[in-house]
Amino acid sequence: MSDACVLGIETSCDETSAAIVRGSETLSNVVSSQVDLHAVYGGVVPEIASRQHLKLIDAVIRQACDQARVQASDLDAIAVTRGPGLPSALLVGVAAARGLAARWKKPLLPIHHMEAHLYSPSLDSQPFVALVVSGGHTMLVRVREFGRHEVLGQTVDDAAGEAFDKAAQLLGLGYPGGPRIEAQARKGNAKAHAFPRPMLDSGDWKFSFSGLKTALRRAVSAAGPLNEKAVADLCASFQTAVTDVLIEKTIRAAKHFGVRRIAISGGVACNGFLRSEFERRCRQEHLEWTFAERQLCTDNAAMIALLAARKLQSGMRPESSWDIEPDWALPAN
Ligand code: KG4
Ligand code: ZN
Repeated sequence: MSDACVLGIETSCDETSAAIVRGSETLSNVVSSQVDLHAVYGGVVPEIASRQHLKLIDAVIRQACDQARVQASDLDAIAVTRGPGLPSALLVGVAAARGLAARWKKPLLPIHHMEAHLYSPSLDSQPFVALVVSGGHTMLVRVREFGRHEVLGQTVDDAAGEAFDKAAQLLGLGYPGGPRIEAQARKGNAKAHAFPRPMLDSGDWKFSFSGLKTALRRAVSAAGPLNEKAVADLCASFQTAVTDVLIEKTIRAAKHFGVRRIAISGGVACNGFLRSEFERRCRQEHLEWTFAERQLCTDNAAMIALLAARKLQSGMRPESSWDIEPDWALPAN
């Protein structure tokens, strides 16, 4: 099937999202973020997330169709996030997608959320090493060609985005932490604190960020009352420690496997410092790099629909019987 028109639905965490794509073109990508609702609790509260998805999902889907000027008859398929994610949140998207698929008599494609992040930087079929960094996951993946990939390593504790969120909470900056740490870090000195680079030389492709959080906590206690400059310095030093490990291990993996291209995606890939440092290091190492577009980095339904359209093009057929998979590991192909 060429240039399939797909409605995508994503409700795995705290964004209610629907999108329409045609082939590799995004016609609409409506994301209703619940961040403000969860911010007072310092993180995502599953019950609030699912209730809010339920409230918003119909309107978000309608808006995605209206913005794309697409009607049910134009659609070739519906795609929805099957997992991983919060069970009660996933259920809302899957129920909505099942309802529409039955009513409009369209095939329904269950999509792996991390596979959608993985392929969100639009790349042709050449091999690449991917760094997927989000609030729930941090993984290095070797992609031989579209659909043929293997996870090289993941975090053994906190995900990189989670580390940013916890660090921001510790510094009283609020949720989500990534963008707030990044903003503070711009005003700070990254050399002010010598934070560790966890597992940089572990000899495998795994990551660990919980020790860094402990180092930050110690530095905060030692610093006493924090003024603006002290917060900025802590943020800059913390951000540099996280990004150093992410960048160096990704580059080492690419060189180890003799792969010339690196792809970076997931919420943390929005980080401007990570992006510019990756570019600088890739240039030095004569590697090519591709970032997911910023609007495709944090959770969104366009990446779900784009992956489904690509899978349809490469011959994927809908499965007949399946359920949500909250702990779905990225399948190796
Ligand atoms: O991909 P995503 O929207 O959700 C998951 O699938 O987890 O990623 C959200 C994560 C959050 O932890 C957030 O703090 C982080 O991405 N993030 C950032 C930035 N923007 C979002 N981390 C660092 N710098 C940013 N600018
Ligand atoms: Zn995600």
